[in-house]
Amino acid sequence: MPANRPLNDAELLAALDWYRAAGVDLAVGESPVNRFASAMPERTRPAASPVAEAPAPALPANADPAEARALAAKAQTMDELRAIMDGYDGCGLKLRATQLCFADGNPEAEIMLVGEAPGSEEDLQGKPFVGRAGKLLDRMLGAIGLDRTKVFIVNTVPWRPPGNREPSPEEMALCQPFLIRQIELVAPRVLVTLGNVPTKALFSTTQGITRMRGQWKELTLGGHKVRAMATLHPAYLLRQPATKQLAWRDMLSLKQAIAAEKTATG
Ligand code: URA
Repeated sequence: MPANRPLNDAELLAALDWYRAAGVDLAVGESPVNRFASAMPERTRPAASPVAEAPAPALPANADPAEARALAAKAQTMDELRAIMDGYDGCGLKLRATQLCFADGNPEAEIMLVGEAPGSEEDLQGKPFVGRAGKLLDRMLGAIGLDRTKVFIVNTVPWRPPGNREPSPEEMALCQPFLIRQIELVAPRVLVTLGNVPTKALFSTTQGITRMRGQWKELTLGGHKVRAMATLHPAYLLRQPATKQLAWRDMLSLKQAIAAEKTATG
């Protein structure tokens, strides 16, 4: 059998099944395709260029964290911030995401949780932590008497990175002003980062999560001071169940911190 003959239908289906089982959920070609141009009606489409289409830039040409900062600063309420973020086109992640995944929970909560980035389920529902990791997070919160009416949950970037890769430093820099404004508007007493990515971003550290987790620090995020602790990401706990005991310690420490805040404020 020639090694490079075209695959038949049954073989193609088997290959697709194999990709799906391996977790591939997005088909990406060798070269970028401007799907906005091809979706334009024929009469508004620019004339075809004789030169090959240039590769799409990694970020929109106008990407500038200063612009995101100025926009975020305008928001006086969570609804205004959501509308501003929804209209923001500076971060390339938005091009490939289904929708903005803004936040979930109670914007008046005293506890705020910051995850990494929406996954496929979050992208479809437009809410953080609604997939498998989210179900585990709900159980972890439940174990110390919390639920989504008592916490506010966000991510470091509000659009799903393709293929669930980590957000790049540029994408995080563009989205950080929105995250900081979310924190300022909620003004939580206690903040918990879930996993490496939000921990490095908000604790401004290069130390890994295994070193950072479980320690309380006072952070100044924008104009807000907050007690903050890092813990392991629920998706990591699903992959490494033996580490759940560490996360459990962190949950107990969170419970104590909440009780201490309550005593301090009467
Ligand atoms: N993982 C995250 O970090 N955030 C989500 O919203 C879901 C999974």
